[in-house]
Amino acid sequence: MGNFECVMSVTLVLGATWGDEGKGKVVDFLSQNAHFVIRFNGGNNAGHTVVNKYGTFAMHLIPSGIFHKRAVSFITNGVVLDIEVLSEELKNLEKAGIKTKNRFFISPRCHIIMPYHKLLDKAYEEAKEDKKTGTTGRGIGPVFADKVSYNGIRLFDLLDKTVFVEKLQTQLKIKNKILQSFGIFPLSQKDIIPTYLKLLEKIKPFIIEPYPFIQKAIQNKKNILLEGAQGVMLDTDWGTYPFVTASTIVSGGINHQAGIPPQQLKTIIGVAKAYTTRVGSGPFPTELLNSEGEKLRVAGNEFGTTTGRPRRCGWFDAEVLRFVKEVNGLTSLAITKIDILDSFKTIKICTGYTYKGKKIRYFQTDANLLAKVTPLYKTLEGWQTDTKGITKYNDLPRLAKQFIKEIEKQVAIPVSYISTGQKTSEIITV
Ligand code: GDP
Ligand code: IMO
Ligand code: MG
Repeated sequence: MGNFECVMSVTLVLGATWGDEGKGKVVDFLSQNAHFVIRFNGGNNAGHTVVNKYGTFAMHLIPSGIFHKRAVSFITNGVVLDIEVLSEELKNLEKAGIKTKNRFFISPRCHIIMPYHKLLDKAYEEAKEDKKTGTTGRGIGPVFADKVSYNGIRLFDLLDKTVFVEKLQTQLKIKNKILQSFGIFPLSQKDIIPTYLKLLEKIKPFIIEPYPFIQKAIQNKKNILLEGAQGVMLDTDWGTYPFVTASTIVSGGINHQAGIPPQQLKTIIGVAKAYTTRVGSGPFPTELLNSEGEKLRVAGNEFGTTTGRPRRCGWFDAEVLRFVKEVNGLTSLAITKIDILDSFKTIKICTGYTYKGKKIRYFQTDANLLAKVTPLYKTLEGWQTDTKGITKYNDLPRLAKQFIKEIEKQVAIPVSYISTGQKTSEIITV
């Protein structure tokens, strides 16, 4: 933890691949030194697993820093909210003895996921037939579409019943036409209004704009930890469009999604597994469609935290990581799940791609071209011994250190954390 404490002021933990890299665990670990922990993007498409002394938690909306008494948690304006999921998450935390009152605040600027967003998400996916995005079905694309086309409903609106009803009526007029064109039964405001007003009562005490607290924290040089959701390869602009998610994931997103001036960001930690996974459709150059991929899936228990879907598995991709380092200004990497490679005789790292015999960089490709590139690999000898739970760098087997060194060399960036198990305590600070 040492080096984190001294470099901290504003620190971002960012998914460096296609999500599920272990951000929740890393954030829970780093939160020990944080005064504020912030979720600023995505919605409950995220599922961040935390395994600590309080139990095992799948965090979808509330920051993974909530377990630390000193840390105050915020959900800022960039997050889209399913308020039913939020109130459920609050209930589960309370049940586990985690206090949330006066320790957790939500921006009233957050857009609300409405029932029609989830129905449209499903309808759009079905219409795409075999070209599905493979969304989580949580209504994420449609709610963001409404946000940028001035059709969204925010917590601000829900707080004023008259405004809420008026906005909902307008939206139902529009949305029911679309739903009916898909053969879906129209929605009635009579069902929605009481449900949402009831849910509002549960979350109302938490709705307080975090902006002034964050500004003051910056002035007072408090430790602010930002918990990114998803992964940069799912960023709407820089990811593998259209197989992406709807929010901004790149580091600059903290400005518009949390109101934090970009130059405040001092530390940007990219989290990546020692191999790669992806859920949903889209190109994945290092994907293993053989027994090795299956071995990774089983050993790594690679099934989605949010949807339970099996994750696609492949080797570590240094070309992706180099790009992610550049575009986000990563200052270091956290490599997770190194223990999952314990039983592998040989381990591969993708060093770059070729297309039609020529070298090609990730940023030169779109999703169609990326699906056709050939990954180049460097093969390393596996350490074939247990690394689970190791907390000191020197206790790592020599070949595991060599693997980490190879990542550092390929990506040209230091690895500052190595995660060796699910538990928050199972981590090495390098
Ligand atoms: P997130 O969305 O980035 O927070 O990641 P997820 O929680 O969706 O998926 C990561 C999975 O890997 C979770 O089940 C974690 O508990 C688990 N995990 C994280 N780090 C490690 C590690 O170092 N070793 C092992 N074995 N599991 C880990
Ligand atoms: P965390 O924060 C992994 C993926 C979906 C799909 C695409 C679009 O846990 O890392 P969406 O429902 O967002 O419209 O789906 O994005 N996706 C994730 N994959 N981890 C996530 O979050 C994800 N959030 C979205 O699988 O391919
Ligand atoms: Mg996840």
